[in-house]
Amino acid sequence: MDVRLIRPTDLTNYLTILERTSEQDRYHRFHHVVDAFDPAALRRFVEDRPDMLGVIAFENGEPLGAAHAALIDERCAELAIVVSKDARRRGVGRALALALVAELEARGYSRFVAHALRDNVGFTHLARSMGLHIEKADGADATWVHETATVAALR
Ligand SMILES: CC(C)(COP(=O)(O)OP(=O)(O)OC[C@H]1O[C@@H](n2cnc3c(N)ncnc32)[C@H](O)[C@@H]1OP(=O)(O)O)[C@@H](O)C(=O)NCCC(=O)NCCS
Repeated sequence: MDVRLIRPTDLTNYLTILERTSEQDRYHRFHHVVDAFDPAALRRFVEDRPDMLGVIAFENGEPLGAAHAALIDERCAELAIVVSKDARRRGVGRALALALVAELEARGYSRFVAHALRDNVGFTHLARSMGLHIEKADGADATWVHETATVAALR
């Protein structure tokens, strides 16, 4: 599996990943309903932006998943991730999250947060396996957090 920074030419790859997800998966990822794949709206997830960093995973040229960080301030980034349905439970999500955190650490980020529904079983397992913990629970929503040292210790 190869994981690298996402770039503008990955628009079709990102679309392919999203097409291989359910409506619920996309709700988990974007926190709102995404039922149409408008390339213009999705372009922001592949272009070079000062407020976002993304990574994408491939195997034999097939795009498997992508993870993004919204850059909140000079220290804190909010992570979000999606893996194609047919590529799950084989470490793609974890590889993406670790690669993204490594990129962020290299840029000086040390606090990572993620928002997820508390009934999101896949993300709960991924987050726990990476040493994240729930900092705040509010009804159906959870805010997961970790600091750099926790992930560094797992490598
Ligand atoms: C959450 C998601 C990214 C996980 O991706 P993945 O590639 O399946 O995750 P991994 O294979 O790296 O799994 C990481 C760990 O979680 C476990 N895990 C993942 N999904 C699981 C599930 N549904 N049930 C139980 N365990 C699960 C894996 O076994 C693994 O555990 P380990 O480290 O002890 O071996 C994927 O399910 C997804 O895209 N969901 C829809 C979008 C979403 O919910 N995004 C999160 C909010 S931003």
